[in-house]
Amino acid sequence: MPAVIVLGTQWGDEGKGKATDQLGQDTDVVVKFNGGNNAGHTVVVNGEKYALHLLPAGILSEGVTPVIGNGVVVDLEVLFYELEEMSARGIDCTKLKISSNAHIIPSYNRIIDRSTEKSLGARQIGTTGRGIGPTYADKMNRIGLRIQDLFDPSILSQKVQSALVTKNQLLEAMGVEAIDPQTVVDELLSYAERVRPMVVDASLIVNEALDRGETVLFEGGQATMLDIDHGTYPFVTSSNPTAGGALTGTGVGPTRIDAVVGVAKAYTTRVGEGPFPTELDNEVGEALRHKGGEFGVTTGRPRRTGWFDSVVVRYSTRINGLTDICLTKLDVLTGYETIPVCVAYEVDGVRMEEMPMDQTGFHHATPIYEELPGWSEDITTARRFEDLPANAQAYILRLEELSKCRISIIGVGPGREETIVRFPLLGQ
Ligand code: IMP
Ligand code: MG
Repeated sequence: MPAVIVLGTQWGDEGKGKATDQLGQDTDVVVKFNGGNNAGHTVVVNGEKYALHLLPAGILSEGVTPVIGNGVVVDLEVLFYELEEMSARGIDCTKLKISSNAHIIPSYNRIIDRSTEKSLGARQIGTTGRGIGPTYADKMNRIGLRIQDLFDPSILSQKVQSALVTKNQLLEAMGVEAIDPQTVVDELLSYAERVRPMVVDASLIVNEALDRGETVLFEGGQATMLDIDHGTYPFVTSSNPTAGGALTGTGVGPTRIDAVVGVAKAYTTRVGEGPFPTELDNEVGEALRHKGGEFGVTTGRPRRTGWFDSVVVRYSTRINGLTDICLTKLDVLTGYETIPVCVAYEVDGVRMEEMPMDQTGFHHATPIYEELPGWSEDITTARRFEDLPANAQAYILRLEELSKCRISIIGVGPGREETIVRFPLLGQ
């Protein structure tokens, strides 16, 4: 199984870092295909906690080549901050590769991200304020800056100047001070020589690794329900975290992919605004938030919490063509007498098994729950499916049936080893 896509099936923070890292021990290349430093992965290795925002999770596994694909947007200040932090903790970062086609997040897009949010008022998205949306908009608008532009100062300068013509008008209209193009150019050029040794044709590197029979992991940031095309638009991120994005975001063709692993939390969380049918906006949700440590890695924001929504995960199975599900944080559900699971929605009096096709329908969706019996035994030491209490096994089997995809990996704690491999993904 040489080419495996790992992505989120819900609204992010499913524990992809752990899943990727888990697989990472058997992989040669980990390539990140979308998003930027809006993502936050927490990985615990030997009791040490690492919070990654921009760097691929593979950076923590020895012998792995981490790659930032063309579909990623790169904040250079954050990149070097993270690299220095990792190096200071003894992590070898010298193998990191960056696509020459990846787009750069210029500092002005952080300002625009935040000002745009303010101007949206009640319709705000709740972005991470990292300039992600404006940078992808610039890419589509063909006024973006790419990593390769750092090596042609006159082109870079022209691009920054022309981008700032309209952006400065926008900023002025929003009462924000105009930005000096030269300051931006100088700031970006100050990174050029440090970036140069990392820059590659990432599509070539990844395809050649596959040609040699190496194992490549495609690591998705954010998640299916935050996808710009298939998520809860406009309450989404500005990239494609779904399986298609793994291809366009790296320059690898669909026929090369062997497995698509969807990571699903045993319940549901969401940060930022937007509809969330199974949300528990009450003390039950508050307790779940504390039990699960549901606070953002990137922004520190408390996450909204709710029960497992199988309509969402079933939809993810379809959109991504999932071959396997990695179910995370099952241990957080220990101690409930019964656990509600959403099996379908009721939308304006009608039962719906599938995602409503329009936004209004999804906003009106109320969950139809099935109550599954809970368990009280500690499950963190379980290493085989059979080690789990009968009710926990039944919970997984029911989720599997509802999600229309087999559940291959089960997370029972935050540590690398606190994992049950029910069906091996890479034939280990
Ligand atoms: P943006 O990606 O900063 O533009 O934010 C758009 C929406 O996606 C907001 O609701 C964010 O909270 C959400 N979002 C972005 N990145 C992540 C992530 O890694 N996990 C969870 N939600 C995210
Ligand atoms: Mg996160």
